Amino acid sequence: MTRTVYVNGEYLPETEAKVSIFDRGFLMADAVYEVTSVLDGKLIDFEGHAVRLKRSLNELQMAEPCSKEELLEIHRKLVELNGIEEGLIYLQVTRGSDGDRDFVFPAEDTKPTLVLFTQNKPGLADSPAAKKGAKIISIDDIRWGRRDIKTTQLLYPSLGKMMAKAAGCDDAWMVEDGHVTEGTSNNAYFVKNGKIVTRPLSSDILHGITRKAVLRMAAEAQMEIEERLFTIDEAKEADEAFTTSASAFVMPVVEIDGVPLGDGTPGPIAKRLREIYLDESRKAAI
Ligand code: PDD
Repeated sequence: MTRTVYVNGEYLPETEAKVSIFDRGFLMADAVYEVTSVLDGKLIDFEGHAVRLKRSLNELQMAEPCSKEELLEIHRKLVELNGIEEGLIYLQVTRGSDGDRDFVFPAEDTKPTLVLFTQNKPGLADSPAAKKGAKIISIDDIRWGRRDIKTTQLLYPSLGKMMAKAAGCDDAWMVEDGHVTEGTSNNAYFVKNGKIVTRPLSSDILHGITRKAVLRMAAEAQMEIEERLFTIDEAKEADEAFTTSASAFVMPVVEIDGVPLGDGTPGPIAKRLREIYLDESRKAAI
């Protein structure tokens, strides 16, 4: 089935959607994005993603392409037009184009480019990968310093995934100044003696929407949480570990740099949090 996508006010078959070659998203990764998951044909944590999008845009002095209400309507319409029961919606806003390449921002009245498309992923919630758990490697974090802004500068995270694949693993955690920052496309956690440890929010990591929800749900379930810097060696000695993201929810981690965690299978806290997260998110979906 040809997907229907959204480009600057129009719903089009994916083969007919066009953006200028001078668009700054294309030339300079001058763009921000969001990924929102869909379960039971409904949006998970739309509000959180809309708020973070606004923040990313503000941090880069980029214009908001439309109101939150319009964004919600576009998301819902794409879900409906593409018959998505389980999957993802990708949204990207760029600084647009004034018809040439220049490091200086284009004129203030340049319209931002707004693109959205769906990814149909039946079985996303009941994923075999989550039952198996992920094997990860650690790599240096050489990204820029504003990782709290969700920009489309994803070359290094993409290289990181490729390094993981080359090592026979699923993903990579990045390490800076001796401490784990986050995964290539997720936030990172380990569990030791029942306590969940994760890096505190700063400009060093993306402020994950799933992170916020999962930490709230963990606290409600009386789980102990500590937000602090941690090393990859601490994580290797953990009882279990996991990651969170809108695209994989709570994903157990079973091995770090070849060292199995616990008995090398998904840990009880990660499994429980995945269940709680999916359950609660389905109830709150819009
Ligand atoms: N990635 N950290 C990074 C570097 C990310 O790219 C992501 C999300 C997260 C988790 O954020 P959230 O819980 O809001 O999805 C953390 C998305 C899913 C992606 O790039 O596809």
